[in-house]
Amino acid sequence: MSHKDQYAVFGSPIKHSKSPRIHQFFAEQTQQDLEYRAVLVPAEQFEQAVNDFFFQEGGRGINCTVPLKELAWAYADKKTARAELSKAVNTLALQEDGSILGDNTDGIGLVTDLQKNNAILLTGKKILILGAGGASRGIIGPIQDELPETITIANRTVEKAQNLTTEFAHKGAINACRYADLAGLSFDLIINATSASLSNDLPPLVDGLLKEQACCYDLAYANEATAFVRWAREQGALKSLDGLGMLIEQAAEAFYLWRGVRPMSEELIRLLDLERGN
Ligand code: ATR
Repeated sequence: MSHKDQYAVFGSPIKHSKSPRIHQFFAEQTQQDLEYRAVLVPAEQFEQAVNDFFFQEGGRGINCTVPLKELAWAYADKKTARAELSKAVNTLALQEDGSILGDNTDGIGLVTDLQKNNAILLTGKKILILGAGGASRGIIGPIQDELPETITIANRTVEKAQNLTTEFAHKGAINACRYADLAGLSFDLIINATSASLSNDLPPLVDGLLKEQACCYDLAYANEATAFVRWAREQGALKSLDGLGMLIEQAAEAFYLWRGVRPMSEELIRLLDLERGN
């Protein structure tokens, strides 16, 4: 076994994960001596695989991705406030006392990519979130922390959006609706948190949802423009972005939790963006 501190991303599927590359880049940049690998872990094997990694294989931290984030939330001995609220954990960290801390860095990763990397500020803005699944749950709290004017959640199954608003209403103005109810409304920022992009599909969006200078952000990313990014361009969005920057920023935040050193993401975002031909 290697003497280096061990880190990994667990998930299923995992073959195409960019996380090993991202964390190795951060490790070199900050001169941290560590190894990071991708491990195929189906849900049934999650607990055993985590126990083995932390308590037999020298593991110090694990990123969890689909379909393991809820299991990781249940597994963690302690959780950060943002992980508690999102009911999902994407980062597990071995603590000095042998306990396991669970964090969720997805939401802060999005907020950092929007505000710091793309100068899309959230304070005082009208924000529309498409979808009411796990991805939406992970980003609402960190967006509310930036004090937008309102958050609207649109979902096919409106009850799921209503449940989310009930849960997050104590943190700021938030309301739920169906896609058809959006007619006549307009927003400063539209975030696609549906899984529709993954099948190159799009929620049923009416025209005219974008205010002047409005921006659009797809949590999903792909080598080609996603269906939502293409829609955003057609609608005349000032910026139409996908989730590559968020992926890198959630990793940077996990790296900081583990190592106490904050990596710089700018160069890596440029590199990975170039590689897909932008
Ligand atoms: P995730 O963890 O990625 O959020 P999820 O919890 O299964 O996955 O949630 C998927 C979300 O995408 C849901 O909001 C779903 O809408 P419903 O709740 O109405 O099912 C939404 N979604 C998936 N495919 C969609 C499509 N083709 N059009 C609109 N919404 C879609």
